Amino acid sequence: MRIVLMGPPGAGKGTQAKMLVERFGLEHLSSGDIFRAEKASGSELGQRLSGIMARGELVPDDIVVEMMAKAIAAVSGGLLLDGFPRTLAQAKALDETLGQAGLPLDGVVIITADDDAIVERITGRRSCESTGRIYHVKYMPPKVEGVDDETGEPLVQREDDKEDVIRQRLDTYKKQTEPVIAYYRDGGTAAVVEVDGMRSPDEVAESMARALTTWQS
Ligand code: AP5
Repeated sequence: MRIVLMGPPGAGKGTQAKMLVERFGLEHLSSGDIFRAEKASGSELGQRLSGIMARGELVPDDIVVEMMAKAIAAVSGGLLLDGFPRTLAQAKALDETLGQAGLPLDGVVIITADDDAIVERITGRRSCESTGRIYHVKYMPPKVEGVDDETGEPLVQREDDKEDVIRQRLDTYKKQTEPVIAYYRDGGTAAVVEVDGMRSPDEVAESMARALTTWQS
């Protein structure tokens, strides 16, 4: 099964992806995580990505498409793409990559959330850099404040999780990524499902699991 997970920043894509990959035997490929790993490597490309991401802008399509095609090629089973594609050019490139491999997309899940909730969620987000586990200071707090439940490592706040950058990311999403939803709805062969992300994480996961179960059969 090959699934694309879409939604504005902070809608809960990463949280849901982590809950669903095990249940459906999918590999989670998050473009944001891949870019943050490149940034952490200290490479020249990583330094370039760092500035773009800190401003809440999109990484140029040619870089994104090359990095994601490489990551996708390394996956042999089911795939859950999170944060990619984010522009029409990326969506068309993904169609081409999957088409060449004879492995078309099965479904697109769009998680929705209100702008105010998004700002509250992102400003309260904390995560563990090594495990990637995501928390929220109010909605999904760790057992012990400030540290990861399993490893005990300190939780960190993402550099782009400041209110002004979040507003910029939301604006970027509306201008550049919402047209991708129309692209899938109007012309694609994959099923498209919208899930209300304003409910509890478990309720959102259940709605998503229902859609994925249908596509699996
Ligand atoms: P990326 O890392 O993809 O960030 P994003 O899309 O902005 O999404 P987030 O990771 O912020 O949010 P999420 O939806 O995963 O929410 P989460 O589950 O963490 O991209 C970062 C940057 O990289 C981009 O700005 C861009 O520069 C670049 N980039 C990435 N992909 C690119 C591409 N394809 N092209 C070009 N550039 C690209 O949840 C958020 C918080 O809410 C957490 O604290 C969580 O605990 C909490 N929460 C989750 N669900 C709920 C719920 N139901 N109720 C209450 N709280 C909840």
